[in-house]
Amino acid sequence: MNDIDILVTAALPRFLREPLDADYRTHDYAAADNRDALVARVGPRIRGIVQGGGTVTTTSLLDALPALEIISVFGVGYDGVPTAYCRERGVRVTNTPDVLTDDVADVAVALILMTGRGFARADRFVREGEWTRRSLPLATKLAGKSVGILGLGRIGKAIAKRVDAMGMRVCYTGRTRQDVPYRHVPSLEALASEVDFLVVACPGGPATRHLVDAHVLAALGAKGTLVNIARGSIVDENALVRALTEGTIRGAGLDVFENEPHVPPALFALDNVVLLPHVGSATHETRKAMADLCKANLDAWFAERKVLTLVAELQ
Ligand code: 8YV
Repeated sequence: MNDIDILVTAALPRFLREPLDADYRTHDYAAADNRDALVARVGPRIRGIVQGGGTVTTTSLLDALPALEIISVFGVGYDGVPTAYCRERGVRVTNTPDVLTDDVADVAVALILMTGRGFARADRFVREGEWTRRSLPLATKLAGKSVGILGLGRIGKAIAKRVDAMGMRVCYTGRTRQDVPYRHVPSLEALASEVDFLVVACPGGPATRHLVDAHVLAALGAKGTLVNIARGSIVDENALVRALTEGTIRGAGLDVFENEPHVPPALFALDNVVLLPHVGSATHETRKAMADLCKANLDAWFAERKVLTLVAELQ
C-alpha cells in the first residue's frame, strides 16, 4: 500500500504514526509550515485522511482532495467531520468506538469523586501543609445521591454501571427511551432539576451545541454539579463560568472545554471546580487500541473495500 497517499491532519502518537509511515505515503498537514502549498502539491493524490477526535475538517479542505475515499478518525468523536458532505461525496468516515469506553467512563467517575468528595482540594490541603494547622471541611456522601446522564450511549451506560455500583441513583435523558434499568426523564431541564450530578456523555457537533445552557444550569441549581467528559461544545461555557462564579451551581468537573487547550482563566481560582486536560482516553492501553483500530480501518478499506467502524450517519 506504499503507493497510497494519506494526509495526516493531527499530531499523532508514535505508535500510530510509525505504522502509517511504514505502509502509506503520509503527508503531515498538521505540522506543515505552509498547508496550502502542501495541499496544492499533493491534494489530487490524497486518498485518505487520518485525524484526531477533536480535529475540525473543513469542506474547503475536502474540496481540494478530489480522490479522497476515507477519513479515519483517531477517536470516537467525529464532530469535526462534515458527515453530510462526506455522505454526498461517498467518502467513508470511521472512528474508534468501544475501545475507549471504559477509560472515559472512569474519568466521569473520577470527576464525581473529585468534586463530590473534594479529593483534588484534599490533595492540595496536604501539599500546602494545611493539615498540620486545621481539619479539612467535610465533603458529600455519594451513595444515595443521584446522577443524571445526558446521552445513554456506550459511554453513558458504562458510567451508569459504575455509579450504580457505588450506590448512586441513575436516571438519563436522550433521543430515545431505552430498555435499561434506569429511569428515563423526557427533558434535559427536568433531568437537571432533579439530580445531584449532571453528566454530559452525548456526542458533540451542531445538533448538541450549547444543549447545556443557562436554563439547564439554572435548573441544576445550587444542589447540582456538572460533569463533562464528552465535548466542550455541548456546554455554553460562558454561562457555565457565570453559574460557577456566581455560585448558582454547586461545582463542576470538566475534562473537555469549548476552545481546548484554552480554559477560561476565571475557573482557575474556583475551589469547587476540577479541571482535567482532556484525558478521557489517555492511557497507554487505550490509545494503542485506538491507534490499531484507526489504522485497521484504513487497511481494510484499501485492501478489501470495507471498513470496521463506519460512523452512524453513513450507514
Ligand atoms: C481523544 C476523544 O483525546 O475519542 C475522542 O473523541 O476526544 C479522545 O479520546 C482524541 O480523539 C485523540 O485524538
